[in-house]
Amino acid sequence: MNMTIKKTRLFYGAILTFALVFTSYVGAAQSETANSKDDLKTQQLELLQQKFTEGKYSKSGADTCMACHKKTAGVADIFSSVHGNPNTVNGPMAGLQCESCHGPKGKHIGKNEPMISFGKKSPLTAEMQNSVCLACHNDSARLDWHSSVHVTEDVACVDCHQLHTPKDKVLTKQGENEKCMSCHTKEKADSHKRSAHDIKNNDMSCSDCHNPHGTMAEASMNQDTINDTCYQCHAEKRGPFLWEHAPVIENCANCHDAHGAVNERMLKTRVPMLCKQCHGNDYHPSGIPSGNTSIQTAGQGCLNCHTQIHGSNNPAGRTFQY
Ligand code: HEC
Ligand code: HEC
Ligand code: HEC
Ligand code: HEC
Ligand code: HEC
Ligand code: HEC
Ligand code: HEC
Ligand code: HEC
Ligand code: HEC
Ligand code: HEC
Repeated sequence: MNMTIKKTRLFYGAILTFALVFTSYVGAAQSETANSKDDLKTQQLELLQQKFTEGKYSKSGADTCMACHKKTAGVADIFSSVHGNPNTVNGPMAGLQCESCHGPKGKHIGKNEPMISFGKKSPLTAEMQNSVCLACHNDSARLDWHSSVHVTEDVACVDCHQLHTPKDKVLTKQGENEKCMSCHTKEKADSHKRSAHDIKNNDMSCSDCHNPHGTMAEASMNQDTINDTCYQCHAEKRGPFLWEHAPVIENCANCHDAHGAVNERMLKTRVPMLCKQCHGNDYHPSGIPSGNTSIQTAGQGCLNCHTQIHGSNNPAGRTFQY
């Protein structure tokens, strides 16, 4: 095989990371007494463990595997993807090929000596499966993966990504929205409410605001804060304003639901109730409006007068009227 030293290190790195996560897990699995389905899983895990200490890589790589697997549905499609392309720098096909993801062939000719497998039917935990991918993909795009909510929830890379396919659907806007909403049913329902953020027709996708691989920001926003995320497209709301409206500076989500809402302008609550949540019996000049001095009894159309609700640069705009 024609590998550079750097590549070799990378590939064995992948398997080594896996083996480490793996060994710590098998011990725990073995000590559990459980039903026969779990017994089978444990058996397979033991076989995999053995394979990792003794298993040998095949001599002719993908050719060896394809001799039996060319008819296994979808397997050959990997050759139309970046992973199956021998010219992908540091890609699997330039090195250990199929075995850089599925592990050493060893004595595998079927389920009697299993390979590393992925997805819900795999005996391996999400963490073990992910360790294979992360050995090559532990880059800046997945910097915060390990602290992300998806990891805590045991979501696997392959819950979102498909590899034996010419086109990984989750990398298109439509495929992404469908995939995310298959688990996030509340956001799916919200997307059918009033929304200028057209997720329903895939003009916008979840990753316009979120990083699916996790960030340190609230709700895994793709910028440092919720507001910075909104400013990417709503730059005019950033200010600076001579007169700032405190809740706007604090968090756009104080008033808006970015996924869609039953109210106009994606407001969480209708005006004036929205305003009255925070503005109690503040002083309102007598005679304005309707002769009431209390905001609680003032007219309904707060926005008729307070038109610059996101902030004002007018010297007389202290109360956002100009
Ligand atoms: C970059 C990692 C990667 C490489 C390289 C790879 N696979 Fe896979 N393989 C996967 C993943 C992930 C799945 C789960 C299905 C999917 O995502 O498409 C899978 C599924 C399979 C399955 C179906 C297993 C099942 O559970 O039914 C077979 C068989 C298979 N691969 C064989 C191969 C062969 C043969 C090669 C080399 C030509 C290969 N794979 C290369 C990641 C990889
Ligand atoms: C001698 C035939 C043969 C060869 C060679 C072979 N496999 Fe398999 N493999 C099978 C059979 C049979 C199964 C079980 C039925 C199935 O899922 O297709 C299987 C299952 C698998 C699975 C599903 C997970 C599991 O362990 O059950 C993966 C992944 C896999 N093989 C990958 C590979 C890879 C990668 C290679 C090359 C290193 C390879 N196989 C070589 C026959 C073979
Ligand atoms: C041997 C190294 C290696 C392994 C293992 C590996 N990948 Fe990759 N992968 C690459 C390289 C190289 C690329 C192309 C450059 C890039 O996008 O980083 C790539 C690209 C991708 C892409 C972008 C695909 C596209 O069409 O643009 C996704 C998604 C991906 N990998 C997911 C995975 C997942 C999920 C796993 C684990 C099942 C995995 N990879 C395992 C090396 C690897
Ligand atoms: C919750 C779904 C989800 C999970 C889980 C997930 N991804 Fe992704 N991934 C996406 C989406 C959506 C994109 C495209 C949008 C983007 O890049 O933010 C993407 C893009 C990528 C890309 C190509 C662009 C880039 O960021 O380099 C790679 C490589 C990748 N993912 C690898 C992985 C690996 C490795 C894992 C597991 C550690 C993983 N992904 C887990 C949804 C997911
Ligand atoms: C396999 C199921 C699954 C898929 C697919 C999935 N998620 Fe999640 N996600 C979860 C679970 C479970 C949680 C934790 C409970 C919750 O907040 O709903 C979560 C949490 C989140 C959170 C809250 C994170 C935080 O830091 O508070 C965001 C944002 C998110 N997911 C976005 C996405 C996006 C974007 C996609 C598609 C690229 C996606 N999810 C796909 C299962 C999934
Ligand atoms: C326009 C930006 C934007 C888009 C697009 C977007 N979100 Fe969000 N999302 C947010 C904001 C802002 C929050 C924080 C909400 C809050 O604090 O009220 C959030 C929160 C979440 C949460 C955490 C909810 C909770 O109760 O903790 C999940 C899950 C989520 N989004 C999933 C998705 C999914 C799935 C998609 C795509 C269908 C999506 N989001 C598209 C802005 C967006
Ligand atoms: C990727 C770009 C993008 C991001 C990020 C974004 N928006 Fe938008 N937003 C739009 C577009 C496009 C429209 C429709 C503009 C139009 O119709 O003129 C819109 C419209 C709106 C509207 C007006 C709704 C209506 O009914 O007219 C509100 C409110 C809004 N966005 C709030 C937010 C908030 C809050 C965030 C951050 C959580 C955010 N947006 C992030 C692109 C974005
Ligand atoms: C105090 C509540 C409140 C907060 C916080 C808030 N908004 Fe609004 N927003 C409103 C109201 C009320 C309207 C409707 C104004 C109208 O119809 O004249 C609105 C309308 C909008 C519109 C559509 C009309 C326009 O002015 O362009 C966009 C876009 C928007 N908001 C974005 C944002 C962004 C981005 C943030 C965070 C920086 C934010 N809003 C914070 C109350 C708020
Ligand atoms: C999440 C709470 C919240 C919401 C909702 C809210 N405000 Fe405010 N508003 C504040 C805070 C806090 C201040 C600053 C008060 C201060 O400095 O004394 C403020 C200031 C103001 C001021 C300027 C008052 C002054 O003394 O400087 C006006 C006018 C105002 N808001 C009108 C509205 C209107 C109209 C709405 C509804 C569209 C609204 N607000 C919604 C919290 C809110
Ligand atoms: C007919 C126009 C009008 C309507 C309608 C109106 N306001 Fe006002 N509001 C004013 C004027 C004028 C002031 C005082 C401006 C000043 O003192 O410079 C004011 C002042 C305020 C202040 C600041 C009070 C202070 O401490 O100085 C708040 C808060 C406020 N309005 C909220 C509301 C809310 C909430 C509504 C809707 C329930 C509302 N307003 C409806 C005209 C109006």
